[in-house]
Amino acid sequence: MNVFEFSIIITLQNNIFSGLFVGQNLLTLKEVDSTNNFLKNLLSNSKPVPEGTVIMAETQFAGRGQQQNKWHSEPGKNLTFSILLNPTFLSVANQFDLTRAMSLGVFDALQPHLGDELKIKWPNDIYYGNKKLGGMLIENILQGERIKNAIIGIGLNINQEIFPADAANATSVKQILQRDYDLRVLLSEICSHIEAYYLHLKAGKIDFVRKQYLNRLYWFNESRRFKAAGTEFNGTITAVKDNGLLVVKSNNEEKTYNLKEIEFLNK
Ligand code: BTN
Repeated sequence: MNVFEFSIIITLQNNIFSGLFVGQNLLTLKEVDSTNNFLKNLLSNSKPVPEGTVIMAETQFAGRGQQQNKWHSEPGKNLTFSILLNPTFLSVANQFDLTRAMSLGVFDALQPHLGDELKIKWPNDIYYGNKKLGGMLIENILQGERIKNAIIGIGLNINQEIFPADAANATSVKQILQRDYDLRVLLSEICSHIEAYYLHLKAGKIDFVRKQYLNRLYWFNESRRFKAAGTEFNGTITAVKDNGLLVVKSNNEEKTYNLKEIEFLNK
């Protein structure tokens, strides 16, 4: 299938991206099913795609979220984009370090605008207070024990003011700061922070990335309410395992959870 069949490329604008490679090749699409799908198709159908290529969409008509959820975003109001990275230096066992680095990049770009209420909710949601500002869907293409390509899909609510009832937990930068933001300027800031964290990872500064991630983690070291295996309990997040599993301590006992196994309860 020709990837251009279901989308229209609308812009090739002046380059406001300051980094070395993330965002240097930017494709803005008027409409696409999902920027992750588009990038995946591009990778398998065309000549080599430069690392750091960003596909941004004004409208996604079949945006995908984590755990088979749909990702809804009001056309033209928000950031919905995917970045291609080739982290061949990362083993599959350490793939959660990429999740950490990408979350930190988004966090560090938004933090100067939004301040201390901003957090990373495990594993890779961006939260402001108790509300979700955005999330990411990272799809890795493996080659043996290594990650050949990573498609980093990021959705952030920026200028949307009203959310559907089933997204009651969502917020946007506009809802928080009462002003509109230029999507391309924010995108360029995010790309440059993502590149910086990616280069830290590449340089082997894994401990730094892991420490920063814990520093910015929502509910870290706080006594909170959770639900797992149908039971509610009080617990404290004490760590995130190297492989990304969440460690919660309850009644002096530490247990590890994957994404499907634990729910954060806001009570
Ligand atoms: C989540 O929190 O569930 C993850 C949401 C990820 C949404 C982004 S929008 C750009 C990219 N394309 C997709 O189809 N999904 C990701």
